[in-house]
Amino acid sequence: MVFRKGEKLAEDLYSNSGVLLLRKGTFLTERLAAILNKYEVILDPQLDGRRIATEAPGIFHDLLYENIYHEMEELQHIIQVKTTLCDAEVESMERNFRKLYKEVFATRTSILELMEHFSADEYLFKHCIHVGLIAANIGKILKLHPEKQSLLAQMGLFHDIGKFTIDPQILNKPGRLTDEEFALIKKHPEAGYRLLEKTSLDPMILKGVLMHHERLDGSGYPDGRKTIPFLVRILSVADTFDAICSNRAYRRRQPVFFAIDELMADADAGRLDREIVLPFANFLMENYRKQPITLRNGVKGSIIRIHPLHPNQPVLKVEGYPVLNLMEQKLTLFQIANPY
Ligand SMILES: [Fe+2]
Ligand SMILES: [Fe+2]
Repeated sequence: MVFRKGEKLAEDLYSNSGVLLLRKGTFLTERLAAILNKYEVILDPQLDGRRIATEAPGIFHDLLYENIYHEMEELQHIIQVKTTLCDAEVESMERNFRKLYKEVFATRTSILELMEHFSADEYLFKHCIHVGLIAANIGKILKLHPEKQSLLAQMGLFHDIGKFTIDPQILNKPGRLTDEEFALIKKHPEAGYRLLEKTSLDPMILKGVLMHHERLDGSGYPDGRKTIPFLVRILSVADTFDAICSNRAYRRRQPVFFAIDELMADADAGRLDREIVLPFANFLMENYRKQPITLRNGVKGSIIRIHPLHPNQPVLKVEGYPVLNLMEQKLTLFQIANPY
């Protein structure tokens, strides 16, 4: 069946795992109709004729993402007229995000795949969602308590809320920012903190908003502080990673191997926490262990060993060559692998 913009949904819509996706009577926006038309939606006689979407979790992610996206737009409108928010104004975005978070974790969706999935959408909204999912994933890699993982997810969702106060023309400017524009952008942690300080959100979420651009060597902003809570340090790693791997107005997204090099450089320079960067970089590299890697000269290779302290310099088996130990060669995988 075809869904049209402007129509209302005639029945409740469920995922094939039985989770309610959209309520009967939901108004179909253009984006919502497009999502529904992308998937096969059928009447299931076994479910008393309720409609189900047959390709969950793809549709589940798309719809939840769409809901959060929509609520972020609403929040952006509110923020244009208000400098502080109340609980009711952030609740529904948070609720939908929690559903997405649960679904992503329950279905073990790979973060890298998810980032692919959403790559065409508007940067800031997508970035907040990704940073939440990545930060929670790092919490999981570090074996933190599930409550802490879920807190990390929320910290990511809210971390850049202060950017909603900035003129989108500046945020999405394709060229170089002037000093004044950059100074304005650097105010987003404090603006975000002020927006949320009257809500009853966990205090750590507010710390994340305020301190995610602080760096352990004191080179960050707004205060140049060197003492940063552990969960906020995780948030900073997730934030840096997603910013590098996303398309921005002024540059194309960079490959994951490049992002790993950057994180390692930040850890070596004492800006980001090494105890967080290393396990995360190892986890990311493990994803590539079973995949063939094409080198820049077109030759195929594969990772045979990852050095825990130097995950961006693995040992490779390369077609027609002896084993290549990148650490001995003082090379990183990004320097020799085909970037995409
Ligand atoms: Fe930020
Ligand atoms: Fe960010």
